[in-house]
Amino acid sequence: MSFRPLALIALLFSSHAFAAPTLPLPPKVGIASPDGNLSVEVTTDNDGRPSYAVLRDGKPVISPSRLGFLFLDVPKFERNFVIAGHQARSFDETWEQPWGERRSIRNHYNELRVVLTEKNALKRSIDVVFRVYDDGLGFRYEFPDQASLKEVKIGEELTEFDIAEPATAWWIPAGEWNREEYLYHRTPVQEVGDAQTPITLRTDNGLHISIHEAELIDYAGMNLTRVEDRKFRAMLTPGIGDGKVVRTAPFNTPWRTLQIADNAGDLVTSSLILNLNEPNKLGDVSWVKPMKYVGVWWEMHLDRKTWASGPKHGATDENVMRHIDFAAKHGLGGVLVEGWNVGWDGDWFGNGEDFSFTRPYPDFDIEKLAAYAKSKHVRLIGHHETSGNAAHYESQMGAGFDLYQRLGIDAVKTGYVADAGQAKVTGLDGKVHYAWHEGQDMARHHLKVVAEAAKRHISVNPHEPIKDTGLRRTYPNWITREGARGMEFSAWGVPGNPPEHEANLVFTRLLAGPMDYTPGIFGMKTRAPDGVATTWAKQLALYVVIYSPLQMAADLLENYEANPKPFKFIEDVPVDWEDTRVLNGEIGDFVTIVRKDRNSDDWYLGAISDEEGRELKAPLSFLDPGRKYLAQIYRDGEHADWKRAPQDIVIEQREVTSSDTLTLRLAPGGGQAIRFVAQ
Ligand code: NOJ
Ligand code: CA
Repeated sequence: MSFRPLALIALLFSSHAFAAPTLPLPPKVGIASPDGNLSVEVTTDNDGRPSYAVLRDGKPVISPSRLGFLFLDVPKFERNFVIAGHQARSFDETWEQPWGERRSIRNHYNELRVVLTEKNALKRSIDVVFRVYDDGLGFRYEFPDQASLKEVKIGEELTEFDIAEPATAWWIPAGEWNREEYLYHRTPVQEVGDAQTPITLRTDNGLHISIHEAELIDYAGMNLTRVEDRKFRAMLTPGIGDGKVVRTAPFNTPWRTLQIADNAGDLVTSSLILNLNEPNKLGDVSWVKPMKYVGVWWEMHLDRKTWASGPKHGATDENVMRHIDFAAKHGLGGVLVEGWNVGWDGDWFGNGEDFSFTRPYPDFDIEKLAAYAKSKHVRLIGHHETSGNAAHYESQMGAGFDLYQRLGIDAVKTGYVADAGQAKVTGLDGKVHYAWHEGQDMARHHLKVVAEAAKRHISVNPHEPIKDTGLRRTYPNWITREGARGMEFSAWGVPGNPPEHEANLVFTRLLAGPMDYTPGIFGMKTRAPDGVATTWAKQLALYVVIYSPLQMAADLLENYEANPKPFKFIEDVPVDWEDTRVLNGEIGDFVTIVRKDRNSDDWYLGAISDEEGRELKAPLSFLDPGRKYLAQIYRDGEHADWKRAPQDIVIEQREVTSSDTLTLRLAPGGGQAIRFVAQ
């Protein structure tokens, strides 16, 4: 780790020759990335409006974009500022992930702190801190402790992102009822509506940019609204009362992040968002266990079983034991059981008052089943559906986690099924308020859950969550989450996920962090009109392509029992990685990812396509030179096609070395999965 002052990199630009003679342009301050390619400039205009701009190789990426805030009860932060000071430093360390898509991560940036002070009578001040990396940048506002601005009620954040070049955008709408569960739009930037982050752009010159945020703590999630042409402005998620964010200074906002890369794959391997989070605060987290799991789950989504009690109840002793036996036999770590607890009878959706987090249904003997699982070296995975009622959940959460801890249940899936704006939280007034899933109060709630769980050595996997902003670095028990359209959509009687969905996710939602997508479906006919719109080989490839330390084998057990050969890949594939590389990829079209197992010398490859069939080249130069590997290949058969022949899969093996290049033939909606066994 190193800190050093960086006097030379902070440049003080002099006024330009064309400035109005009576009113010289105020100074600019700037900083460049460690490799010098990316730079940020901060300035104020003649009205004292602060703005920043981003350049890459000297060309604009973000045109001058405003910084500032609207407050509810005091004048805005937007003009009359001067740059009262600036400081630069550089930082370089390499840190280790306890689990992850790679073991070691280099955190190397140059930082510029800009002190903005009002020149009018108020003389209020705010710092903007920029961290510029080779692969992008983050910046945040730091509200200092000052008598003139103590209680801060933010009405809106005025941060802008003015995209310098024409570009195509991949985005999902913000503020709509189904939260983060939308299909991605691909439109020119000028056609983006209110959008969630991450939003990913490809400029007409081929530059890739993804806008998101890091370290969302005690603040509202940021969406983007398009102001005009290619210019976006922050649009914070509403709060429950006065202000979108209510804080007492001193405090910092989350980082506003821009990942910037020449190709789509480099967005995926960027660690910018993790790097902008604080190091692990939990100490020894060897109790956080990446694992694969099966569950009493898909059968409910197919409507063969119910969460509710009654003749179709899924969470019975017998059914759970069957799943435990299966997991033990096939070396899978966990068994998720949903619908185990009282509260599912009646209208649970968006209600949640009825849930007990300690009382099992009578046909689910939790003590006996936990002991049975333990005897088979399998763990039960707990389930806390809250229906978005965080207020009710918080009143029982401690007791719920205590029960799980006593029974050795060390991973819990939580759920917040409620329409957007219909979550419920207890306000500081002690009353229950409707809330948005990504508002400040829910940001607080999720961290409360993670902290309570951590005390009992439990890992948490929220569905209908708050967005991922890299907090897994600080709280490694925040192991994965949903936060996008998962596989479940392809089970229901609604249009499922189209073949391009996962190739969109990789370059958008998944840039934020792991997702519990729940792959591994072999039974392609479901209640969805098109069923599951992939081939079998693509289902296998998803275990490598979609990173998650909890990875479900989501299908019915009988579909695995009937197909042991393709299931072998699901048995073999790891969930914790030494290294990750992207061999090729285009947003929404295709991607090939290779990852090295953390616990052996084996590598795994996953390649997926959208609705097009295609051939991709995979140079194996990532393998150890001179070493032989047995490539166990699971590829689309000659007739494979997601619509007509999804199950056409060829499983074969051949010897390869690092000097080989494989040609991957992917069917429409297809994929390929390979295990490279080091010899
Ligand atoms: C939605 C979740 O995504 C799904 O996995 C879960 O089964 C249901 N909610 C019920 O909690
Ligand atoms: Ca969901």
